[in-house]
Amino acid sequence: QTIRLADYTPFAWQVESVSLTFRLAPTATRVLSEIRFSPREGAQPGAFFLHGEGLRLIACAIDGAAVEPTLTDQGLTCPVPTGPFTFTSEVEINPEANTSLNGLYMSNGMYCSQCEAEGFRRITYYPDRPDVLAPFEVRIEGEAPVLLSNGNPTGSGKGWATWVDPWPKPSYLFALVAGDLVAHSDRFTTSEGRDVALNIWVRPGDEGKCAYAMDALKRSMTWDEEVYGRAYDLDVFNIVAVDDFNMGAMENKGLNIFNSKYVLASPETATDRDFELIEGIIAHEYFHNWTGNRITCRDWFQLCLKEGLTVYRDQQFSGDMRGHAVNRIDNVLALRARQFREDAGPLAHPVRPESYIEINNFYTATVYEKGAELIGMLRALVGDEGYAKALDLYFTRHDGEAATIEDWLKVFEDATGEDLTQFARWYSQAGTPTVTASTQFDEGVFSLTLKQHTAPTPGQPDKEPQVIPVAVGLLDSNGNEAVPTQVLNLNKTEQTFDFKGFINEPTPSILRGFSAPVVLEIEQSTETRAFLLANDTDPFNRWEAGRQLTRQTLIEALDGAPPRPELAAGLGRVLSDESLDPAFRALVLSLPGIDDIAQSLYDAGRTPDPTAIYIARKGVAQSLAAALEQPLGQAYEAMQTPGPYQPTAQDAGKRALRGAALGFLSHLDAGARAAELFAASANMTETTTALAQLIAQGTGAAQISAFAADWSHDRLVMDKWFALQTSACPPEQAAETARNLTEHPDFDWKNPNRFRSVFGGLMANTAGFHDATGDAYTLLADWLIKLDPVNPQTTARMTTAFETWRRYDADRQGMMKEALERIKATKGLSRDTSEMVNRLLA
Ligand code: ARG
Ligand code: ZN
Repeated sequence: QTIRLADYTPFAWQVESVSLTFRLAPTATRVLSEIRFSPREGAQPGAFFLHGEGLRLIACAIDGAAVEPTLTDQGLTCPVPTGPFTFTSEVEINPEANTSLNGLYMSNGMYCSQCEAEGFRRITYYPDRPDVLAPFEVRIEGEAPVLLSNGNPTGSGKGWATWVDPWPKPSYLFALVAGDLVAHSDRFTTSEGRDVALNIWVRPGDEGKCAYAMDALKRSMTWDEEVYGRAYDLDVFNIVAVDDFNMGAMENKGLNIFNSKYVLASPETATDRDFELIEGIIAHEYFHNWTGNRITCRDWFQLCLKEGLTVYRDQQFSGDMRGHAVNRIDNVLALRARQFREDAGPLAHPVRPESYIEINNFYTATVYEKGAELIGMLRALVGDEGYAKALDLYFTRHDGEAATIEDWLKVFEDATGEDLTQFARWYSQAGTPTVTASTQFDEGVFSLTLKQHTAPTPGQPDKEPQVIPVAVGLLDSNGNEAVPTQVLNLNKTEQTFDFKGFINEPTPSILRGFSAPVVLEIEQSTETRAFLLANDTDPFNRWEAGRQLTRQTLIEALDGAPPRPELAAGLGRVLSDESLDPAFRALVLSLPGIDDIAQSLYDAGRTPDPTAIYIARKGVAQSLAAALEQPLGQAYEAMQTPGPYQPTAQDAGKRALRGAALGFLSHLDAGARAAELFAASANMTETTTALAQLIAQGTGAAQISAFAADWSHDRLVMDKWFALQTSACPPEQAAETARNLTEHPDFDWKNPNRFRSVFGGLMANTAGFHDATGDAYTLLADWLIKLDPVNPQTTARMTTAFETWRRYDADRQGMMKEALERIKATKGLSRDTSEMVNRLLA
């Protein structure tokens, strides 16, 4: 059943209040509800329908009189009075049998919930849609020592607790947690003088791993007050870490629930990347309190309203915390790897989709990350001041409402006077625009011609031109800024921009800071790229110039050409330039991945062979290592971080550069340095960096065992152990490595983190996943078929492994298609997975 944006109709009733009582029991939890409805003014009262799935209805009544509703597998309908009325019901649910991790479920003996997007209907009968907002009161009865729900605590005793959430909210923000938990606690006083109790709830034994998340939370609270003027609005803020979770985390009002991997961290068990992700995700969920909770979405088509904006906000925060240049490069790397890939394949969809079958399939890189890029472009178009004004207006005008993208664009128009009609196409047109740049120099005038084109995507054969902010600067021959950065608004299919008054031809630096999510095509000589790598004053484009050089070198290597000397020389200069941030130098040294090269070849009309790319890439790495052995060895020695481990951006940057140097040097020393580092390391960052190199060299057997012996008691660390083996191993061993790991006693396949470690690792091993035998395709399909009845959401998400199938040769295409057809033909396949395989095959 396809749901369409065009079919939106408001709910005909208003929910005045909700009162819930939970009588917890693992296999037979009773949920009693009392919901006050009144006719919504001006609404056409249709049939009264409440969502409900997998519920055993015990009884229900209207104004105290029992009713016998009509039940379907989607919910209930019953006749109701014309005026206000109270609906009461009692249902029974089975949290222990809930392996989908959607609704109320159990994780290690603890009750927890996930209601976004449509999990609340698995808890009780309710209008489970985001435009129905109500204040909730909750009473929990159960044996667990800790009983939590949204809002403020109002009472507790032996075996019970009550909570009141005064802020009207949609049901997807409901949460309940009950278990044997301990808190790492702190306090925060808001700018409005509210004293807030902060708690991070974890299983006993994990309380020593919460300090970093707590610190990140307090910094997030301060930042949102200072930068957006948004203060917290309850007396408590609770965070709970759970081991079984489909996604990263969830912003339930006053009770955020997190995948434990994004909360728990210690120097011994977490990597620099883990600390960075914890900081970013804690911030993301906290920022949702305003962008998502206080102002929510009218319907799920508007998901990017809260997600794009909240990602944009968390990226701003991370940039402020850790440095903007490196942060921007990291974000663009992720955008290209995930969102550009999505846009280029059968799953391409607009930032605001117009139809879906299962909304959980649209929690995508396009909605989130491209959605965030749109906010950045809006800001570039209206300026910082305009942006601040528009956001203030958004918060005052829509507080307490369920809003739309039209509402969002309207506040920008009203606050700045800007006409955003054309900009709105960014929300409705799928696909990554290609901007082709060409230049001319004539009589002192430098002309830059920009053309835009967006290829057809599923359901959208023709595209209109979009408004693309292109940040441009011009450099003179000494590498000085001849024209500082200015933003050109490309809003037609083709436009020429003139810069006057030059004696010598300047060198353009185009799309500075990656000012728009587009593919930039420009014919540039190797010399020009090397010049920009050495001189560009925009750090993003400086990195990008190096990236273009390495991409070009990798593609030429496929055709048998040795690396151009300009590359080693340029990288060597950056590597040894101590005025540059080590994290930036590490990024310049990192080579594009196999998937990146495969897409580039495909875009150029060629059929990529992942195995050949793997071999060429290894060859390039080897020859760069040989050419730069001396400075790499120096960097490896210099980038040590002695003393106690600190998860700071500075130290993390040093370790990143050290790791990058190790990656090259391992090609020359057969893993000798990596083995030494593994033996000596006292932090998880260097341990896993070393282990990955050893695994890649095929010489890590002893270290793999040693690591497992050290860490078999720690699930999150063992997730890394599983993932490293499938992601880093030589490609010809990838499928077999994954298969062997699925037979390991600790392969708990119903746990999403563990399943993703093995199979997400296999997917990330591009040449391994696409090995010509097709073994990996078969193995993954077998496991997705097995997982689907247990956990449809995670299964559906992992079918994206196949989203690039049309890129490859006929044999690989045939095998991937067969894998997808086999999944599709599975009896009783979930709605989630069937929507995905149908789109993938269409
Ligand atoms: N709103 C959450 C976040 O972005 C994501 C929850 C998605 N969960 C799901 N099952 N679709 O932080
Ligand atoms: Zn979010």
